[in-house]
Amino acid sequence: MLHRLMEASDYSALRDLWSRFPGNALTGADSREGFERFLEANGRFCFVAVDSGAIAGSVMAGSDTRRGYVYHLAVAEEYRRSGTGRTLMTLVEDALRDAGIEKLHLFIFRDNPAVAFYSKLGWQVREDIHVMSKILGDAPVSDAHGATSREPGRPGGDGGGPICGYLKQPGIPGSEPEGGEE
Ligand SMILES: CC(C)(COP(=O)(O)OP(=O)(O)OC[C@H]1O[C@@H](n2cnc3c(N)ncnc32)[C@H](O)[C@@H]1OP(=O)(O)O)[C@@H](O)C(=O)NCCC(=O)NCCS
Repeated sequence: MLHRLMEASDYSALRDLWSRFPGNALTGADSREGFERFLEANGRFCFVAVDSGAIAGSVMAGSDTRRGYVYHLAVAEEYRRSGTGRTLMTLVEDALRDAGIEKLHLFIFRDNPAVAFYSKLGWQVREDIHVMSKILGDAPVSDAHGATSREPGRPGGDGGGPICGYLKQPGIPGSEPEGGEE
């Protein structure tokens, strides 16, 4: 398994990977334009795992210079439980630490089994804060299968599956807790 920085040309293969998880919430930020914009700003924090030329895993992370945020950690089913997710997260954590970031956050549905994965990697569930979100404009959130909803982080249709939510841009007032030690 090879690990490298994510490239703009990976977009189609990544959409395909992310679309394999029912309930995964893909938003306007996951359009090709949104993807490329994110990579331009945060490309040094985004990685893929590649096996025989095919994308086997992904993680995207971004920094607003204050905190780091992790998105789209995904490992194709046939490659799971062999350390790929852990390696991708190590790459992200090292890159963000090297950039001077002291703390990372991610957003995940409570019922996602990946909570146990993150716990093993030292992440802690926060019980002391709410995440508050606001959709700007008219764009609905849509899941990988086309179901739409205006509820942030939850795709439409059946109310969403056990997959990591994808919130709007970090750093926008209202999407991060104010004050306290977030
Ligand atoms: C979460 C995910 C990325 C884990 O990838 P992975 O390559 O299977 O993880 P690893 O093999 O590196 O596992 C690292 C450790 O976590 C454990 N682990 C992995 N998945 C787990 C799960 N669902 N429940 C409990 N423990 C888990 C492994 O056993 C391993 O433990 P160990 O170090 O004691 O051996 C993968 O299951 C996935 O793509 N899930 C679907 C997408 C998703 O939900 N992503 C999170 C979005 S926020």
